[in-house]
Amino acid sequence: MQTGYFISVEGGEGAGKTSAIAMMVEHLERKGFGVLSTREPGGIPIAEQIRQVILDRANTEMDGRTEALLYAAARRQHLTQKVLPALRAGKAVVCDRFVDSSLAYQGFARGLGIDEVWSINDFAVEGHMPDLTIWLDVSPEVGLSRIHADAGREINRLDLEKQEFHNQVREGYLQLQERFPTRIVSIDANRDIASIHEEIRQVLDARTSLLSKNRE
Ligand code: TYD
Repeated sequence: MQTGYFISVEGGEGAGKTSAIAMMVEHLERKGFGVLSTREPGGIPIAEQIRQVILDRANTEMDGRTEALLYAAARRQHLTQKVLPALRAGKAVVCDRFVDSSLAYQGFARGLGIDEVWSINDFAVEGHMPDLTIWLDVSPEVGLSRIHADAGREINRLDLEKQEFHNQVREGYLQLQERFPTRIVSIDANRDIASIHEEIRQVLDARTSLLSKNRE
């Protein structure tokens, strides 16, 4: 049975995920892959509805574990309805955020525990983990200043609180990279876009050439 190649892309605010993903899709297509580019909840109505519950500002009393369970539920639906069928059809799937987002944000930065959040995600994904995770590692200062350069406004107190939270998110990703050093490749995303994209292309080439050898 032909199976595809599952790539997730992770990173904090201002890491440059969007442009990196566009480049990756183009690069993989040039290499002859059929590509599905997606992000949770991925246009899946059930997952969209779950996401609305998470994002609804009226839900101020939402418990942290409830939030983690809802992310995992939306992930499950998007996985079974969109990602797995594409992988079964032999496609390369590029997914903007996956399990590691929950582990870094809910597990580490929000303090629920990486192992605790992993256990509910393990149930949700049933072993379907990415073959490769590109972690765009940007320092929160650089990420934030990129966002502000776009929006054209000053950094305020709230942004600094945000920065502290993103320090925690980055620390979470660092721990995950140490835990899964083969799956998660960290890319220094503090550099200019051309250098970042060149390094990602090299990683993709190395990993997908291995893939075609395995398929022979
Ligand atoms: P989004 O609007 O998709 O922005 P971006 O991916 O460009 O940062 O917002 C996603 C937010 O949701 C982001 O702050 C990370 C957070 N998130 C979690 O906390 N846990 C998760 O499992 C996922 C998928 C996202």
